[in-house]
Amino acid sequence: MLKLILPQTAIRAVKQIFAVKMDKNFSTYCRLLSSQKFTVQDSLPHLPVPPLEQTLHKYHQSVQPLLDEEELEHTSKVISKFKTKQGPLLQKLLEERAKKHENWLSDWWKHHAYLNFRSSVVVNSNPGVLLPRQNYEGVEGQLKFAAKFISGIIDYKFLLDEKKLHPEKSGMQPLCMAQHYNILSSCRIPGIKSDSWHNFSEDYPSHITVISNNHFFSLNVYGKKWRPLSVEQIYQQLKVIYSKSEEPAPQIGILTTESRNEWGKIYKKLIKDKQNRGSLESIQQSIFVVCLDRLIPSVAADTKQTKSLMAGQMLHGSGSNSCSGNRWFDKTLQVIIGPDGMCGLNYEHTSAEGPPIITLLDHVLTYCYANEEKILPAVGIQEPVRLKFNLGTKILEAIENAKKNADSLIDDVDLTISQYTLFGKEFLKSVKFSPDAFIQVALQLAYYRLYKEPCATYESASLRRFKYGRTETIRSCTVPSYLFTCAMDDSRVPAIEKIQFLRQAVQVHKNISNDAISGQGIDRHLLGLKLIAIENGMDIPKLFMDTAYTKNMHHKLSTSQVSSKYESIMCYGPTAPDGYGVCYNPQSSAIGFAVSALDTSPETCSKKMTAAIHQSLSDMQKLTLEFQVSKL
Ligand code: COA
Repeated sequence: MLKLILPQTAIRAVKQIFAVKMDKNFSTYCRLLSSQKFTVQDSLPHLPVPPLEQTLHKYHQSVQPLLDEEELEHTSKVISKFKTKQGPLLQKLLEERAKKHENWLSDWWKHHAYLNFRSSVVVNSNPGVLLPRQNYEGVEGQLKFAAKFISGIIDYKFLLDEKKLHPEKSGMQPLCMAQHYNILSSCRIPGIKSDSWHNFSEDYPSHITVISNNHFFSLNVYGKKWRPLSVEQIYQQLKVIYSKSEEPAPQIGILTTESRNEWGKIYKKLIKDKQNRGSLESIQQSIFVVCLDRLIPSVAADTKQTKSLMAGQMLHGSGSNSCSGNRWFDKTLQVIIGPDGMCGLNYEHTSAEGPPIITLLDHVLTYCYANEEKILPAVGIQEPVRLKFNLGTKILEAIENAKKNADSLIDDVDLTISQYTLFGKEFLKSVKFSPDAFIQVALQLAYYRLYKEPCATYESASLRRFKYGRTETIRSCTVPSYLFTCAMDDSRVPAIEKIQFLRQAVQVHKNISNDAISGQGIDRHLLGLKLIAIENGMDIPKLFMDTAYTKNMHHKLSTSQVSSKYESIMCYGPTAPDGYGVCYNPQSSAIGFAVSALDTSPETCSKKMTAAIHQSLSDMQKLTLEFQVSKL
């Protein structure tokens, strides 16, 4: 029993003092400890498999605004056939799978949504997060802030290691905390047909990777007895790294922007060399990556446009002439500290959603804003070690190709960051609207105003109230939201009816959100039925080849709420070439938006969409106030 309460820092210290490879007993002992990681975790319910009829009924409802009468009639027949033919057997097989797994979906999801995804992770999968601009200037200010930020993450890691991280709840419901433990010391590793993802926490890495001017360094952030380096000590180490990287190195990091199959092939060649293998392992196993960016010519004055450019720096690094080579996009967490107050991060999505990343960031920002130095200097600090690569002609050619591909991918991104300041979630709560549902209905109105039609919309819902839960889809385009968007600008519709349509649309959105977070959504269940058919060598049911299904999966709006107590904003690319990515941060009295689109699509424009969202919010507020006032 005594053994089980020995803290992680003590274990690491034992390991370091005796410099032993963990023997069998020791590793069993560590496993026992890690099994104590989650106290609430064990009591979390397993993700349910919803009833087949319920899902098919909801699916039928969700496609209605997207189909014409003829298509809907056809889809109704396809659904009925599935309900009586393949559906029941697939449902039974899925229920059997659910009995054998703690979460019937999470492993499938990891592969289906991430590791088997073969396009570049940049823009298409890895989100960026732009933090509020910090008050520092010049290289000294940049390195000092980077040192504080690193120290803040090590402070957060201490909470994880000691299992002191505050268990999160949604209302009264405890949430699964597993994702928090996946963020540090982990990395995606490319393969030729599929990738893998590894967490190295149990190897107790003590170093981070610092990338500066495309040079890679391993920096040990602990001294003797696992004492973390003080901020001043980290700063001194960063100064050494900065001065040793004055001339740019070949952009080895740009290889991680390649399509996954291509990167998988190059990676296989790279690791044939022992030195390369050692350097790559050091990056993969490090606690996290810090990118020290040099000045970006396009980011000049503090204008609204600058925010969008800075967000691009987080999302993709702004191209091979800027900082896209000063990255390792496979790393789960890479912090980006640029000049003149620009900072944020990019994260690889396989193992975690945005909210746990924001929890870490909120902790680190609070740590950075508290002005006191908490940590005493450590002894026994090691000099940063340069990670060397032997790059033959083939790899250098691959780097040149990757630069071209990255540049065309990045040039296509049209990103607008904005802050809507007329109201935030406190106003919405005061008029008894769910803030998230209201914002989602505003997105529907904005899209309808621009295109005069509804579109399939994806909103992420968290499934973290279930063990190892990831996400479900909220299908925000509903019949009531469509009716509201049609009515809102129709002068023939009296305002009293408009507000009724609005209330109904918001309420229905809230209901389907509640269903989604309770494991009673549509999409993951349908995916499960499809995957279980494939796994059992059965024909893929016609339901998944129907026009309705294809239309429903073509998300012209791919949206997500990622809230932070700071003015941080997450951004990601659109999932449909002719669509938008919309991420928002509802704060008390403002709402941050990151809207992305692709320039190659003649139909989309992130600035126009942003303006339409702001206008929709204002018009909906006006309508709401009209009836609030008349009620008084
Ligand atoms: N009247 C007054 N207040 C209301 C209300 C109403 N009718 N409806 C909701 N509220 C309150 C809530 O109680 C809540 O209050 P709190 O801030 O004091 O807790 C607040 O308004 C916000 O609730 P709401 O806007 O309805 O929803 P939400 O913030 O819980 O978000 C989801 C809904 C679906 C976005 C959320 O559950 C979720 O799943 N988030 C994770 C998404 C994710 O993983 N994204 C990342 C992908 S990378």
